[in-house]
Amino acid sequence: MDVDFDVKHGLEGVAVAISSISYVDGKKGELVYRGFSIEDLIKNSNFEETAYLIWFGSLPNENELDFIVSMLSKKRELPEKIINIMRLFPKNSHPMEVLRSVVSILGMYSGENNSTLEDAINLTAKIPTVIAYWYRIKNNMPIIHPREDLKHSENFLYMMFGEISQYSELFDKTLILHAEQGMNASTFASTVTASTLTDTYSIITTAIGTLKGPLHGGANERVLKMFEEIKSVDNVESYINALIENKNKIMGFGHRIYKTYDPRAKVLKEWIKELFLKENVEYFEIALKVEEYVLKKFENRKIYPNVDFYSGILYNFFNIPKEFFTTIFAMARIIGWTAHSMEYCKNNRIFRPRSIYNGPKNFKYKEYKRS
Ligand code: CMC
Repeated sequence: MDVDFDVKHGLEGVAVAISSISYVDGKKGELVYRGFSIEDLIKNSNFEETAYLIWFGSLPNENELDFIVSMLSKKRELPEKIINIMRLFPKNSHPMEVLRSVVSILGMYSGENNSTLEDAINLTAKIPTVIAYWYRIKNNMPIIHPREDLKHSENFLYMMFGEISQYSELFDKTLILHAEQGMNASTFASTVTASTLTDTYSIITTAIGTLKGPLHGGANERVLKMFEEIKSVDNVESYINALIENKNKIMGFGHRIYKTYDPRAKVLKEWIKELFLKENVEYFEIALKVEEYVLKKFENRKIYPNVDFYSGILYNFFNIPKEFFTTIFAMARIIGWTAHSMEYCKNNRIFRPRSIYNGPKNFKYKEYKRS
């Protein structure tokens, strides 16, 4: 066995870049974008402005904000040929598969061979359209074209459901919460891809494929499935006991960095609590009971609800089907993916780690070939 190197399983505790994009304090449960706490940003900013902040490093002045808002609203529409290709996709394709594939196809229309901010803006503008078009095509409904006069979140909900939601600001704030989170798995994957100096479409295709997994962004869909299976508050304890006995992970709990309550989950829970007082918010009572019981079962183990535990309840409130939840995550996280790729490439070095070989070395073809 080659013993010159140590294996850091899951790269735990390994830093792969120096970054000024966001700060995650896993002990205190704090998340800061470019010096601003997420609590400050959700109170005072919006998705477009936060995107500018994350990309450029400072808050925009009025002209700069107008520029980004106008770029994002003008680039929403998809080429007609891509819409026609989407109509040919199997109707049971998972929305994350569709998003990953359409982003890849959009690369063929970009004419760029490297990674640019223009491509980042183009994809940020188009991803909501891909999601909404797929929702409508999958359900045999006519697509609703984007409107330039609407804000990013407003327009997305309009393209999905054909009306302006009175809660679009709340939806917008969930996008701010999901926009960035340090060197998580999909951001790392996108940074690795960027380090080869490839194009933005390849970078984001990589990132979407990585986010899709149930241990990462795909957890939000599984959390809602869990609530559906639990059905009633009375079933929570037996359901969770069965998961623990079978050594299954409880979706929406645990985090590599947060060893306390995820600040994003805290904010989402507060919003849902307020909403619950005036609206019918499905699954909230089940979620509260799951949280209480899991925290009791995992006492002293530092396993708390993460962002994916409460986000699905909100998306479900907006009538977004659970298979689409992770696409909403992608729609926001593209900001972090592209910001990290661009930052890393300013001082690029290709990622090329090692694996330690522990297999045989002296086989002879003629001796081992089976007849
Ligand atoms: N349910 C049950 N046990 C858990 C959970 C959980 N959700 N999370 C961690 N543990 C246990 C795990 O079994 C292990 O126990 P032991 O030391 O006895 O083997 C210990 O806690 C450490 O867990 P780990 O899996 O080694 O931790 P990690 O840092 O490698 O993984 C994680 C982090 C998020 C993948 C993991 O907590 C997990 O699988 N959670 C469920 C999936 C989930 O909610 N993912 C969303 C993550 S946050 C947002 C995002 O990235 O999308």
